[in-house]
Amino acid sequence: LDTKTPLYKTSDKTSFAYISARDRWPVIITQAIDDVYRSITQCNDREKEDEGKKIVEELARLKYELQHDRQLTPLRDDGKPDIALYNQELEKLGAPTWFNVPWLYSECYLYRRMSTSFKLSTHWKNYDVFARQKMSTFRSSRPAVLELATRYRELVTQMESDKSQTGPEHEEAQKILFYEMMEICLWGNATDLSLLTSLTYEDIQKLQGSEARKASEANILANDLSTAFEVLKKARDEGKKERRVDIVLDNAGFELFVDLILAGYLLSAGLATNVVLHPKDIPWFVSDVLPGDFAALLSALANPKPFYETPSDDEQLLNKTPSPLSDKEATELAFLFEEWAGFHAEGQLTIRPNAFWTHGGSFWRLPAEKDLVADLQTSELVIFKGDLNYRKLTGDAAWDPTTPFKEAIGPLGPGSGVNVLALRTCKADVVVGLKPGEDEKIRATEGGGGDSGSRKWAWSGKWAVVSFSGGK
Ligand code: F6P
Ligand code: MG
Repeated sequence: LDTKTPLYKTSDKTSFAYISARDRWPVIITQAIDDVYRSITQCNDREKEDEGKKIVEELARLKYELQHDRQLTPLRDDGKPDIALYNQELEKLGAPTWFNVPWLYSECYLYRRMSTSFKLSTHWKNYDVFARQKMSTFRSSRPAVLELATRYRELVTQMESDKSQTGPEHEEAQKILFYEMMEICLWGNATDLSLLTSLTYEDIQKLQGSEARKASEANILANDLSTAFEVLKKARDEGKKERRVDIVLDNAGFELFVDLILAGYLLSAGLATNVVLHPKDIPWFVSDVLPGDFAALLSALANPKPFYETPSDDEQLLNKTPSPLSDKEATELAFLFEEWAGFHAEGQLTIRPNAFWTHGGSFWRLPAEKDLVADLQTSELVIFKGDLNYRKLTGDAAWDPTTPFKEAIGPLGPGSGVNVLALRTCKADVVVGLKPGEDEKIRATEGGGGDSGSRKWAWSGKWAVVSFSGGK
């Protein structure tokens, strides 16, 4: 089942689809090629080297096909069942070319196609071509990570001592804290790597400070956080024993870090008894979380000094030494590690991969995945992080921006049995749930797109929407 609303396509020159295909994807493929080269020079296994060179050739061929607007070719069978789905869809689309194809499908195809080159090799099967970028960006978000680590410890300590408190003031304080945590988690998404081609590290650090967070509240155009809070509070007050929150993850590094802050907070505050995290199976949209990223993050926190103090390759080249971590800072990070590792060991914090998340279609097709839907229905709240998940929820279709969210998510809306909450900073054209006139108003602002026909304001991650749909 798909939406009947027309989809965004790479042929539409006013959309971010076109700009992505023309400017961003070639850069992303080039970065992947550079990464494989780097790994080739670091390995001393002849067979692996040769295979690496073959992968580079394949990636270069993909870039050529894209830039010369060739047809998307059927994916080679790498043994996974989703290949057939990708290829059936390609046939249905009538052998499209790169600049005349639905945006959502073609972008998913791009990453799925890259992954076949690795999967079909012997020595590079589990290689994550974006791992270097992900880890180094996380390392450069150090100031924000430290700020949040301190804040988190204060909070958890405070919640411990306030446990016995009740009454309306206490309720109100809890609600405000919930908003703050959710907003941290929301804006953590503004920093994904696929947009990094235009953002500097400095920009990122600015985006992450707490001052910036407060100022950004005005930029949340639809905000259903109070409903989400009521849902979780109601389940708790009813005395339900198991109350689960699911997070369909987006990006690794800083965003995963804030997702874990949120998860830890929900568990500590008793707003959930379990949190299930849903990562991706294959390297995806550059920065998305793979199970290995989760492990890498925890091990960086478990051992923060070597992680932050060992110069990176680039720092070595520039003869720079990173400033040492103070003992206090190391203790704050260790506290986080203990917390999360503890929840993980108790089975309260788990990760649950599923191949569906890297299929080429939208979440309008989720109801056909019987097991996955049944699983999500048992959750109190399923939080979908980030831009791509939002595009998939809404089918990446050109909705009128005043369309209600619950309508735009089709089969996942009312009656689906799934409570959906999207936390999304806008990095693509699709947007719904806006007040009448709002789109027009922002278009008229500086950089908003004016009368160019483009919804430019929605491309940069500056604006956000937080939308809820009750499915029960
Ligand atoms: O809009 C740019 C873009 O790369 C989209 O292609 C994609 O939907 C999104 O950003 C990825 O962002 P996120 O990591 O928030 O899903
Ligand atoms: Mg992403």
